[in-house]
Amino acid sequence: MNMSSKKQHISPATINLTSSSSGPVYIETYGCQMNVSDSEVVISIMKENGIHHTTDIENAGIILINTCSIRENAEQRVWGRLDVFRQMKMKKPGLLVGIIGCMAERLKEDLLESKKLVDLVIGPDAYRELPSLLKEAGTGQKAINVLLSREETYADISPVRTDNNGVSAFVSIMRGCNNFCSYCVVPYTRGRERSRDPGSVLREIGELSEAGYREVTLLGQNVNSYYWNNTGTAITDFSDLLEKAAHEYPGIRMRFSTSHPRDISDKLLYTITRTPNICKHIHLPVQSGSSRILQLMNRGYSREQYLERVAAIRRIIKDCSISTDIIAGFCSETGDDHRQTLSLMEEAVYDFAFMFKYSERPDTRAANNLPDDVPEDVKSRRLKEIITLQGKLSAKSKKGDLGKTFEVLVEGTSKKSDNELFGRNSQNKVVVFPANGFKPGDYVNVNILRHTSATLIGVPVCDLEGGK
Ligand code: SAH
Ligand code: SF4
Ligand code: F3S
Repeated sequence: MNMSSKKQHISPATINLTSSSSGPVYIETYGCQMNVSDSEVVISIMKENGIHHTTDIENAGIILINTCSIRENAEQRVWGRLDVFRQMKMKKPGLLVGIIGCMAERLKEDLLESKKLVDLVIGPDAYRELPSLLKEAGTGQKAINVLLSREETYADISPVRTDNNGVSAFVSIMRGCNNFCSYCVVPYTRGRERSRDPGSVLREIGELSEAGYREVTLLGQNVNSYYWNNTGTAITDFSDLLEKAAHEYPGIRMRFSTSHPRDISDKLLYTITRTPNICKHIHLPVQSGSSRILQLMNRGYSREQYLERVAAIRRIIKDCSISTDIIAGFCSETGDDHRQTLSLMEEAVYDFAFMFKYSERPDTRAANNLPDDVPEDVKSRRLKEIITLQGKLSAKSKKGDLGKTFEVLVEGTSKKSDNELFGRNSQNKVVVFPANGFKPGDYVNVNILRHTSATLIGVPVCDLEGGK
C-alpha cells in the first residue's frame, strides 16, 4: 500500500485559483457518512482558495465526484456518472473533472489511463493538495495524489455544511481502519486508524451549537477504538469524549457510528444510560450469525460473544434501539450458516438493518484466499429472506412503540404534506406528526398512534409553550 509515514505537506498560503479555473465547484458524494463529511472538508478547502461551491452542475467549472468502493455496484454507479460528465465536458471545454475518495485511492493512475476525461485523482488523505493539483490540471496536465497519511485528520478545517436542514451534522472523530475484515476494502482505501485531537472535536461541536445545530453524529469506521494519549486532557477513550461533548453541549443530541461489536465496552453503555442527551441507539454490525463465517471474515467475535453484547445493551440501557449490517452469501456460506444469521436476527430483534450481498473486492484478504463460491441466485435468495425477516422485525419494533411518547427533534417538513413535520426520536426512528406551529430544530413530545413500514406517526402531546 502506498502510505506515507509523515504528515502531508500543508500549503502555507492559499492559492488563488479563480484565474485558472472556469467557475465554481460542484461535488457529488457517494458512499458512507464519512464521505459526506469529507466533501464538507473539501468544500471548505476550496472556499479558502477562492473557489465557491455550487449545487448547480450546469454552472460548474469543476466537477468532483467523491467515490465509494465498498461493493462493486457502488463503483458501477460512479462509472455511469463519469459517462454523463464526459458528454458535459465535450460541450464545455475547460470543464475539469476530478475523482476523489475511495475509488481514487483504490484505482489510482488506472483511473487516468482508463478514463481519459478525468483530469485529477485525489485520495482521502490528500485533500489539502486539491488547490495546487487543480492548478496543475488547469494547465492541461493530469494531476494525482493518492498518498495515505498516518496523521491527517483535517482537525483544523471547519467543514462547510452541505446538509440543508441546519439541525443535524456529522463530525468525524477519526479516520481509517485497522481491522482488516477479510471482505472489506476500507483499510486499503482509508489507511491506518488515527484519532482526532479531542479539543478540535469539541471546538467543532461548539461552532455547530452556535450556528443553531441541535444534533451531532460522531463518525468513525470504529468509534470504539478512538484513542488519545496526549497529556493535558482527561479524554483518552471514546466514552470519555462522548461524555465530555454531551456535558459541554447539553442542548445538542449526540449520536455516533459505527460501533464494532468486539470493542463496545460496558463503560460506554453506562455513559449512554446516565447522559440524557446521548441517543439510545447503537449501530452494531453483525455481518453473519455463524461463528465459522465470522472467523473467516476476521471479525474478532463469535455469535455467542456478539449476543452477549446485545444482552449487555438491553440490560444496561432501557429502551435502546439496535441496528446492524448483514452480508449474505459470503465465501463458503452454507444453508446452515445462513439459517444461523436468520436465527441471530430473531434473537437480537433488530430495529433496523442494512443488508447486502457479498461483493468480492479485489486485493482484499477474502479475494486473495477464499473463493467467492456462493452462486449469485443463492446469494439473492438468502438476501431476500434476510430482508423479509427484517421487515417483520422492524414492524414488531414499531408496533412496540404504539402509545408511547417520544421526544422528537424536528428536522423538516414531511414530503407528503406541508402541514406535517418529521424528525427522529432518540432511538433514531423517523416520526411524522402535525406541525401545530413547531419548526425544524424544536424538540417536541409526540405520542405515537400508528406506523407505516418506514415511519411512526403521532401527535404532539403539548402545545408550543409546553414543548421543550
Ligand atoms: N466500519 C463499519 C462499516 C463499514 S462498511 C463496520 O465495520 O461495521 C458498511 C457495511 O458494508 C459493512 O458493515 C458491511 O456489512 C458492508 N460491506 C463491506 N464490505 C462488503 C463487501 N465486500 N460486500 C458486501 N458488503 C460489504
Ligand atoms: Fe471494514 Fe471491518 Fe474496518 Fe468496518 S471494521 S471498515 S467492515 S475492515
Ligand atoms: Fe465507501 Fe469508502 Fe465509505 S469505500 S463506505 S466511501 S470509507
